[in-house]
Amino acid sequence: MNRTFDDLQNEFWILGHRGAAGLDPENTLPSFDSALSLGCAGIELDVHCIVDGKDSSQLCVIHDDRVDRTTNGEGLVADFTATQITELDAGNGAGVPLLEEVMDLVIAHQQQSMGSGVLVNIELKGKGTAQPVAHFLSTHSDLSVLVSSFDHDQLRNFRHLDSSTPVAPLFARPHANMIAIADELGASYINLSRRLANQSTVEECRAAGYGVWVYTVNQIKEAKTMKALGVTGIFTDRPDLMLDLQIIANEGG
Ligand code: G3P
Repeated sequence: MNRTFDDLQNEFWILGHRGAAGLDPENTLPSFDSALSLGCAGIELDVHCIVDGKDSSQLCVIHDDRVDRTTNGEGLVADFTATQITELDAGNGAGVPLLEEVMDLVIAHQQQSMGSGVLVNIELKGKGTAQPVAHFLSTHSDLSVLVSSFDHDQLRNFRHLDSSTPVAPLFARPHANMIAIADELGASYINLSRRLANQSTVEECRAAGYGVWVYTVNQIKEAKTMKALGVTGIFTDRPDLMLDLQIIANEGG
């Protein structure tokens, strides 16, 4: 049976952050391919919804509000059409991919993975992504997806449109109402920055019934600490350093 975000509570998993962002240009097809080829249980990516002509839009996979840091272009993501943004060089000649293209890659890996499935965490990064992502997922029910966001209003909109895909509020800083927000969203997980993921916070989440994902863990020592804390898994830019931990953990080591 395909692995899904519904059956991971007692395991320890590695998700490639923006693919394998420490090895290849982030949020590009080669980066996602590297993460999955190395053996990550899945990948994390960021989406913006970008207009593409008068009446259409596309979900593009890019992290920042501007294209400057990650491509050879300049300016706000919102000032590009989807066609223009996909033609930018996001590193080593790779373009900014559409969500659809990343999912085609995921499906190809899924078919090679003897049915173990590939987990995909879609982070709603740009404004106005809740509706198009809900629509996208309604036509891609074969994927194992977790939808997360720091923008909890946008996650709430997504939840109203899609009551079945697992969701996770993201927290970068301490928040008094963390559990209440997750409860209200009907969340499956709470996603925490590594600074927030200490014993008491992880225990609080787990006692409330939530699995915890932690970003961005790039040191093996810290990954081991996270595993010992009992988190569900981590996002890492360097899956090449971490994968033994995932295998050992899943073998009960
Ligand atoms: O979704 C986990 C992590 O990617 C959140 O932080 O800044 O990389 O979007 P950021």
